[in-house]
Amino acid sequence: MSKKHDSDYISAKKSRQISRFNRKLTKKLEKERNDASKDPALYTTTMKDPGNVVEFDNVCTYFFTDIGTVKAVDGVTFNVPKRATVGVVGESGCGKSVTSLSLMQLLQRPTGQTVGGEIRFNIGDGKALNIVKAPTAKMQEIRGNRVSMIFQEPMTSLNPVFRIGQQVNEVLELHHPEMSEEEVKARTLEMLELVGIANKEGVYNMYPHELSGGMRQRVMIAMALACEPDILIADEPTTALDVTIQAQILELMQDLQKKLGMAIIIVTHDLGVIASMCDEIIVMYGGRVCERGTADDIFYRPAHEYTKGLLRSIPSTQNMNERLIPIGGTPINMLDLPKGCAFCPRCDSAMKICLREQPVEMEISDTHHASCWMNVKNAKEGK
Ligand SMILES: Nc1ncnc2c1ncn2[C@@H]1O[C@H](COP(=O)(O)OP(=O)(O)OP(=O)(O)O)[C@@H](O)[C@H]1O
Ligand SMILES: [Mg+2]
Repeated sequence: MSKKHDSDYISAKKSRQISRFNRKLTKKLEKERNDASKDPALYTTTMKDPGNVVEFDNVCTYFFTDIGTVKAVDGVTFNVPKRATVGVVGESGCGKSVTSLSLMQLLQRPTGQTVGGEIRFNIGDGKALNIVKAPTAKMQEIRGNRVSMIFQEPMTSLNPVFRIGQQVNEVLELHHPEMSEEEVKARTLEMLELVGIANKEGVYNMYPHELSGGMRQRVMIAMALACEPDILIADEPTTALDVTIQAQILELMQDLQKKLGMAIIIVTHDLGVIASMCDEIIVMYGGRVCERGTADDIFYRPAHEYTKGLLRSIPSTQNMNERLIPIGGTPINMLDLPKGCAFCPRCDSAMKICLREQPVEMEISDTHHASCWMNVKNAKEGK
């Protein structure tokens, strides 16, 4: 139990204040959501660029917990073009999964709320659905159908008491009620074959515990792709797998992307995974995007001190015989974000302004953006 002099000690009075604040705010937010859901004009908008599937625009997702507000995602902006692969990287707790869950509207409400910004999902004809305000019924139409997700823990995402076949069938039955029982089964078997399961008839009748980790991940992919979504979110799809199976699963995802023409958001903390397969890379730190650009921009011309630190800490052919340099310090406390740059307390090049002000996003090139005061300094000095 924390004592009075601990930094995380909360007095009973303060705790009551936080609970009151949370109750009041979440009630207000829920009411706003309910009101917005009654009028389609309030959650229908237009895409900034019809070539994108999804546009995140200044998205803020907070958790109103008993010990304070966790700003898990705080002003995230990036686009996912059609058929493109976008990689989201960053250390544990930086808000990668919460960004993906915000797009699926799968946050634990009322504690977790997207309190600001827009997530525009392209529904065709230049029109967009603002997922932040969309009602649950509307989300149920597109979730699993047009936006699918492979979750971080495949072991816990499959239901242990249902057979594999039943679980894949369920997705099809829900979104395609017009399909007959035979058609659904045929499609499920087709999907199991597509994801490289040789014994599809056998696996159809198996329970999740009878499959290996790699096979369970393949089943998850089959479920996610059964309805041919416009976008697939893969949240650490290979973390629980060994290296050879990792490579197979990534290859499979790329193959299926080509066949089905979907976009992919791949969330990982493994820079090696995204180097080869992403059109754009988003680097996150402390719930914000600190740098975004193509793989070449990020790997050859990193412009944020955090990205530079990340790159120094991964082994490569150039530093085979050297010691790897870890990023010093500890991840920040999301309950108490610093006033200025979130990375400032761990940054060796920090300047006075980094303590005071949040860095603005600076355009380094058409494809490359970074939020680091060092770029402003370098620009002034003509570097
Ligand atoms: N239900 C919740 N209640 C309170 N805080 C939460 C909740 N879910 C996530 N958070 C907080 O939000 C922040 C971002 O979490 P998130 O799961 O997005 O991290 P991540 O980048 O996916 O990390 P990892 O690489 O470990 O999966 C973390 O600080 C986490 O503690
Ligand atoms: Mg995560």
